[in-house]
Amino acid sequence: MTIYEEILNKKAKIGVIGLGYVGLPLAMAFAHKASVIGFDINEEHLDVMRTGKDPCKELDDNVFINADILFTSSLDDLAKARFYIVAVPTPIDKNNKPDLKPLLGATKSVGQVLKKGDYVVYESTVYPGCTEEDCVPLLEKLSGLKAGTDFKFGYSPERINPGEKVHTLQKTRKIVSGCDEESLSVIGKVYSLVVEADLHYAPTVKVAEAAKIIENTQRDVNIALMNELSILFGRMGINTYDVLSAAGTKWNFMPFSPGLVGGHCIGVDPYYLVHKAAELKYHTQVISAGRAVNDSMGGYIGKNVVKMIIASGKPAMNARVLVMGITFKENVADIRNSKVVDIIHELQDFGVNVDVIDPFADPDEVKRCYGLTLKARPEGPYNAIIAAVAHDEYKELTESHFLELSVGKGILADIKGLYRGKIQKMTYWSL
Ligand SMILES: NC(=O)c1ccc[n+]([C@@H]2O[C@H](COP(=O)([O-])OP(=O)(O)OC[C@H]3O[C@@H](n4cnc5c(N)ncnc54)[C@H](O)[C@@H]3O)[C@@H](O)[C@H]2O)c1
Repeated sequence: MTIYEEILNKKAKIGVIGLGYVGLPLAMAFAHKASVIGFDINEEHLDVMRTGKDPCKELDDNVFINADILFTSSLDDLAKARFYIVAVPTPIDKNNKPDLKPLLGATKSVGQVLKKGDYVVYESTVYPGCTEEDCVPLLEKLSGLKAGTDFKFGYSPERINPGEKVHTLQKTRKIVSGCDEESLSVIGKVYSLVVEADLHYAPTVKVAEAAKIIENTQRDVNIALMNELSILFGRMGINTYDVLSAAGTKWNFMPFSPGLVGGHCIGVDPYYLVHKAAELKYHTQVISAGRAVNDSMGGYIGKNVVKMIIASGKPAMNARVLVMGITFKENVADIRNSKVVDIIHELQDFGVNVDVIDPFADPDEVKRCYGLTLKARPEGPYNAIIAAVAHDEYKELTESHFLELSVGKGILADIKGLYRGKIQKMTYWSL
């Protein structure tokens, strides 16, 4: 019996290591087709999952009903699995260098429980070569087994987009790769249990790693171009979104828009590529320039708001600004690597008092991560309002709502262009 058949018959279990935005939906999908060990080191989150809830608030509670899954932090439990999928974070450190601690930590856990005939598939976003050069040698060292013969490995990057329900794991074409023909076929079959869309079989693990990282790098560079254009159009007195609507009427104009690039994918992954390139003595120029532009946008927005406050006759010192939204993007609770915080810090550097509201973000987490106290509701009047994140519930707000919260005619900085064409009386600015 092959390992795939054993998984189908629940004789072999799937172990998912790292139950976050990527790992938990994957583990839950498998848990309706196979027997799953869900492994994580965050005991608090495990407790929430054991009550049938997703700590990331992405999954409906009914996904947990009748799911064959054990939530655990015990290596003894993890040892019961035969097909391991690693979905832990791959962040950067304060110097924008890859921080492989979670990935190598998870690899260590798997290495300690790996058995002959097992499979290990990585889903975490990494630079090309990371699986074979950094992870597999550690698996071999800790298990005493030989990769390719005693155990097989592969890489299958995740493409989910938290906060949106269209491009789900099930419905999105997925890339799979393996260390040889046999593993490629087995890994493909196992993923086909949960992915209804076609699979793309990449020829090598490195190709699959590279494919994932350039998906996000391409977005990053294109958004950087839009941000640079936005800075330029600002000086020309042209609204960027008006320009994009016009240019977008050409059949091959790509629909990107300016904005903050935060979170732990698009703003982080290119640094993995930059790091690997430097190791190979190539200094990325386009990719690095994109990162530099995008990382500077929070400061740029903050300064613009300060200029508008001063131009309205109010000194920046002790001016009051409301920031709407702190999550790294719309309609999610995730605040990691939020670039809205850069706007806030810029304003605070000028002595501005900033109030922050967000219907999705967890106030305790905001306090812990950024030392900021979220307000439950606006407490106007404000000298300026910044609509920083395009949460659905902000979309229907009207000018009279903003005017009620403002000093005098007020200033609205509309980062995502949500209210374009709808603001007549206030001083209006968007990227
Ligand atoms: N979130 C996304 O939209 C998305 C999309 C595609 C790819 N990715 C990539 O997928 C990977 C995971 O991202 P995420 O957003 O799910 O991360 P996450 O932070 O939401 O979740 C990761 C989980 O891993 C756990 N963890 C950390 N170290 C561990 C260890 N040593 N052993 C076991 N568990 C450990 C954490 O406790 C957490 O629950 C990253 O490489 C990311 O770049 C993320």
